[in-house]
Amino acid sequence: MRVLFIGGPGAGKGTQSGRMAHFFGLTHLSSGDLLRKHVAEGTALGQRVKAFMDSGDLVPDQIVMDMLRKPVLAASRGGGYILDGFPRTAEQAHAAYLVASELGVEVQVAVHLRVDHDVLVNRLMSRGRGADDNDRTVIEHRIEVYEQQTTPLVEYYAVREELITIDGGRSVDEVSWDLVSALQARNASLADRASEPAPLPS
Ligand code: AP5
Repeated sequence: MRVLFIGGPGAGKGTQSGRMAHFFGLTHLSSGDLLRKHVAEGTALGQRVKAFMDSGDLVPDQIVMDMLRKPVLAASRGGGYILDGFPRTAEQAHAAYLVASELGVEVQVAVHLRVDHDVLVNRLMSRGRGADDNDRTVIEHRIEVYEQQTTPLVEYYAVREELITIDGGRSVDEVSWDLVSALQARNASLADRASEPAPLPS
């Protein structure tokens, strides 16, 4: 199964992607984690993206696309993936779709974790992960960037894929239970579709 998560900063994408990847035997690919690893290791890529991340802005599309191409392909061949934090813009979604559909590894399920603004702020303020989590102004900016650049993707995937919307404002376990049953149902219908006989030639 090939899944992606959409949700504001602090919506629980990382938490729930990790749990679902474990449950369904999928590879969890977090663009934010990969970028933070580059920054922590001081790679050339890390040096190019640090200022964007610290200020709560998005890293340029091409950098993220190049970084993810190989791991997404490897995960697709190894049983499937959960993309956490990618795509983030309509441009990323469109470009990823073109590459992935050519290779037969396009997204099959998009999950939207819906969480209220104040809950997002409180979760991030109490986590304080790094430069982008410690300052309320930066957190508000990340949420604004999400609302402007990423929320249009909810509509994009509602049209193209089967979109699952989950209330992410509840406890971690409640959200996980809902996700497991929604993804199991979706996985079963994908398996049914794959076993349908090919249509007869007309
Ligand atoms: P990224 O790492 O993707 O950050 P984000 O989207 O801002 O999301 P977070 O990781 O902060 O939150 P989350 O939704 O994963 O929630 P989590 O489970 O951690 O991106 C960081 C930066 O990298 C971006 O700003 C950008 O610069 C760059 N970037 C990344 N991808 C990019 C892309 N594709 N294009 C361009 N730039 C990109 O939970 C948050 C907290 O809440 C935790 O403490 C957790 O324990 C807690 N929590 C989770 N669920 C619950 C719950 N149900 N109840 C109570 N607490 C909960």
